[in-house]
Amino acid sequence: MSLENYVNAIVEANCLEVMSALDESAIDLTVTSPPYDDLRNYKGYVFPFVDIARQLFRITKPGGVVVWVVADATIDATETGTSFKQALFFKEIGFNLHDTMIFRKKNPIPQIYRKRYNNEFEYMFIFSKGVVKTHNPIMVDCLHAGLELNGTTYKNYSKNEQKRSKLANPVGIKKIKGNIWEYVVGKKQEDQEAKGHPAPFPCELVRDHVQSWTNPGDVVFDPMCGSGTTPRVAYELGRRFIGVDISHEYCEIARDRIKRIAVQPALSFSNRVSVEAAP
Ligand SMILES: C[S@@+](CC[C@H](N)C(=O)[O-])C[C@H]1O[C@@H](n2cnc3c(N)ncnc32)[C@H](O)[C@@H]1O
Repeated sequence: MSLENYVNAIVEANCLEVMSALDESAIDLTVTSPPYDDLRNYKGYVFPFVDIARQLFRITKPGGVVVWVVADATIDATETGTSFKQALFFKEIGFNLHDTMIFRKKNPIPQIYRKRYNNEFEYMFIFSKGVVKTHNPIMVDCLHAGLELNGTTYKNYSKNEQKRSKLANPVGIKKIKGNIWEYVVGKKQEDQEAKGHPAPFPCELVRDHVQSWTNPGDVVFDPMCGSGTTPRVAYELGRRFIGVDISHEYCEIARDRIKRIAVQPALSFSNRVSVEAAP
């Protein structure tokens, strides 16, 4: 089935059905978080990981990116390691492991002491189909902007010479942001709209990825979109979106969130779209 049948729609379905119906190389960016290690009881939970990963590879454009946000449960005193196993499987089926990024929560849920430090992050594995085609890096201020380095801190001109005749260039104003990204979870108004879903992304996290890996008009996908954060942000940023979730209740939250920011009421997300109902 053609992409246009699903574009700008929240589809209530098992994501595998929708992915198998999409053409090869249809998607520029996927930002998603799977239900992991039975940590939460999502309604209608079905999670065939291997098939989902293979379909993601098929439908991603050459140079396209998949952002896979995941963490591990601790069961019988050991972390499961599921996230690493999944990352290696993505590599096995052809994706590059472009980066292993960290989503650090500024307000992590306090944990009961279990002889370990409080967990405050999740992995954001960045998989690419070949070399990444779009990267609009987020820039941040350099801590020591303008500083002229006169020591051997960065450049060692000669092991024997004690004196330097040439200075290194002054430190630049901006640099590319690091790969640990920090967010407050669930407090902003735009994130409060997702109430009713147990584990929504912060909008800001999705915004940073959508801007980094796509350009306006590109297609952004979330096969397990829950409260619809990925489609909502993609729409806000002028990208096309496809959101899928197996739960009717979560799809309704997602549609409401998008409607709140919609400027074109004629878009198909205002209807209730299901795989069967899609043209
Ligand atoms: C971690 S949540 C995603 C939350 C989402 N990132 C957000 O911002 O709200 C995982 C979602 O996967 C959905 N899900 C589980 N199995 C699915 C499947 N086979 N197809 C589609 N959705 C599925 C669940 O209903 C749940 O909403």
